[in-house]
Amino acid sequence: MQRILITGALGQLGLEFIKYFEKSDVYVLATDIRTPSEKLSCEFEKADALDKDRLDQLVKKYKINTIYHLVAVLSANGEKNPFSSWNLNMNSFQNIVEISLDNNIKKIFWPSSIAVFGTDSNLDFVSQNPSMSPETIYGVSKLAGEKLSSYYFNKFGLDIRSLRYPGIISTDTLPGGGTTDYIIEMLNAAKNKSDYTCFLSEETKLPMMYIDDAIDAAIKLMSVERKKLTISTSYNVTGFSITPSELENQIRSRGFDIKIDYKPDFRQKIANSWPKKIDDSSSIKDWEWSCNFGIKETLDRVFS
Ligand SMILES: NC(=O)c1ccc[n+]([C@@H]2O[C@H](COP(=O)([O-])OP(=O)(O)OC[C@H]3O[C@@H](n4cnc5c(N)ncnc54)[C@H](O)[C@@H]3O)[C@@H](O)[C@H]2O)c1
Repeated sequence: MQRILITGALGQLGLEFIKYFEKSDVYVLATDIRTPSEKLSCEFEKADALDKDRLDQLVKKYKINTIYHLVAVLSANGEKNPFSSWNLNMNSFQNIVEISLDNNIKKIFWPSSIAVFGTDSNLDFVSQNPSMSPETIYGVSKLAGEKLSSYYFNKFGLDIRSLRYPGIISTDTLPGGGTTDYIIEMLNAAKNKSDYTCFLSEETKLPMMYIDDAIDAAIKLMSVERKKLTISTSYNVTGFSITPSELENQIRSRGFDIKIDYKPDFRQKIANSWPKKIDDSSSIKDWEWSCNFGIKETLDRVFS
């Protein structure tokens, strides 16, 4: 039986993973530095991912054999304090690796991000393995984590699996301070009939993915035999690419009369160094990834 530890479990992705696992036959221990505002459907322990001894005790106590390590400071928040962001992103990652080696953990899921790319990466259509020069501390830490994943796999056989997520769209759980957060904010503004000021310019095209596809991709990747995986850093995945003005038009075409202003801030510079479109053919080939939610299906779900 899978016995899963989730770190950063109260964030945008973590709460959705908990919801998904509720329907399946696995044991889940959720952990976070915060306490839940509502009762969760699984066990919860408060734990700082920088406290290796505490995590080690929990892994032993609950006989954990799989870890979903979701703790991170995201792209926009990371720029406010690069030193503490690097500290959290890298040292929590290293803690999980050491604990996994000490406790014979079978598999780890650790999300990377499209932030690993940069303006050298042919941003119009980013391949699996282009030149990468990330421009945020978040991207630098994700790229370092990818390289370490590959290193630990080759050195110790440690099975870390990873996806380079694009912006993830969920409206039940709120985003955690990334550069693609505008899409959720604009959708929520439409639902709530309020005005919205977008922090990116109208024509900023970025890749996105609906939350159900994000969870589905992780579960699929975690389920395949390791020998099918040809990549030990992180796999490109994507849903669809869209600009804020295209999203605005889509929202209007569904009858929402929303007033949107555009006032790009520091996040515009980050977005300018991120991909417009992603080539996810390696994921399709290696583990039969397929995306179910385009913009239409996503908006059908968001406004249902
Ligand atoms: N959401 C996205 O659009 C997106 C895109 C690409 C990659 N990712 C990656 O997916 C993962 C999860 O992202 P998310 O959007 O759920 O993030 P989030 O910011 O919503 O959640 C992170 C959680 O970590 C917790 N946390 C912070 N510091 C901690 C600590 N020291 N110890 C324990 N918990 C701590 C926070 O309380 C929060 O609940 C991250 O690795 C992120 O880089 C997310």
